[in-house]
Amino acid sequence: SDNKVYRASTTAPVNIAVIKYWGKRDPKLNLPTNSSLSVTLSQSDLRTHTTASCSPKFTYEDSLLLNGSPQDVSGARTQACFRELRALRKKIEAENPSIPPLSTYPLNIVSENNFPTAAGLASSAAGFAALVRAIADLYELPSSPTELSRIARQGSGSACRSLFGGYVGWEMGSAVDGSDSVAYEVAPASHWPNMRALILVVSAAKKGVSSTTGMQTTVATSALFPARANEVVPRRMKEMEKAIAAKDFETFGKVTMRDSNGFHATCLDTEPPIFYMNDVSRAAIRIVEGINNAAGKTIAAYTFDAGPNAVIYYLEENEKAVAGLFKAMLGAKEGWGGNRGVAVPVNDEAM
Ligand code: PMV
Repeated sequence: SDNKVYRASTTAPVNIAVIKYWGKRDPKLNLPTNSSLSVTLSQSDLRTHTTASCSPKFTYEDSLLLNGSPQDVSGARTQACFRELRALRKKIEAENPSIPPLSTYPLNIVSENNFPTAAGLASSAAGFAALVRAIADLYELPSSPTELSRIARQGSGSACRSLFGGYVGWEMGSAVDGSDSVAYEVAPASHWPNMRALILVVSAAKKGVSSTTGMQTTVATSALFPARANEVVPRRMKEMEKAIAAKDFETFGKVTMRDSNGFHATCLDTEPPIFYMNDVSRAAIRIVEGINNAAGKTIAAYTFDAGPNAVIYYLEENEKAVAGLFKAMLGAKEGWGGNRGVAVPVNDEAM
């Protein structure tokens, strides 16, 4: 009988949103209350590498090893990804009775991040994107990045955007089954290749309030939230897509900073209030303001996810004025560590 081990490996990049996803209209399917937009970062700096294997001789249940430690795969998110991918494989098996029934074999997933997992650096986005693509490759599914984004979204919302490189949107969609809540390419990285992201690891500690809990309390209690989801973000999505099409960094930067601040304002407006940024985060905001004031225009833009770490977007021609200044100023300062900031270009690999 078949005693083979079937195996496929892939990598997936991190993405950092410039229009934030914050709020679920359906927590089970990870359907968002607003569309969002992100930039995919280079895999040479930040990526998850994942190998998926399956075999009839595996005696254990489905398992997942992340950076060497066993993870719980019984959670609804991981289970949803496994279930969807197995269902697609089953269809192919039903049509081709001669191919091995991989969908019936236990899955063994081995994942490695080349960056600290708990650092709040969107590790779940790269993680679920890599997991979904590795299993899709293992099962030889003919799925497009769009279809895989629909599955990865159910693992972690932001993961759907890591199936594409460059500038990526996530359309909130309107279908109750989530079929139209998928990622799409706004522009390839080659369209605006001189974009850079400086990541300042303020704290490598795991975030205090998980994004799921934070979103749920914000949606339930913030008085600012409905305006953000229904009016502000839809307008910003259009402004941002236009700014990217025109390679207009001033607008890109201004909208990025306003949206980060607006998202964190709804967190502060939540009951009980949620504080993701700290004093060091606020110092980074002031430094970016100083850089932009000195330049007489917006050449640097900060953004913060559900944690204190700053991501600063800038164009390569302003490397010295932005990344150089940050490194010179903060290299020695307590709280920033020695060499914790990395400059990464947007992803240019064929996805
Ligand atoms: O994908 P999640 O559930 O970890 O949520 C991510 C939320 C933010 O990172 C704060 C914003 C975003 O759009 O990535």
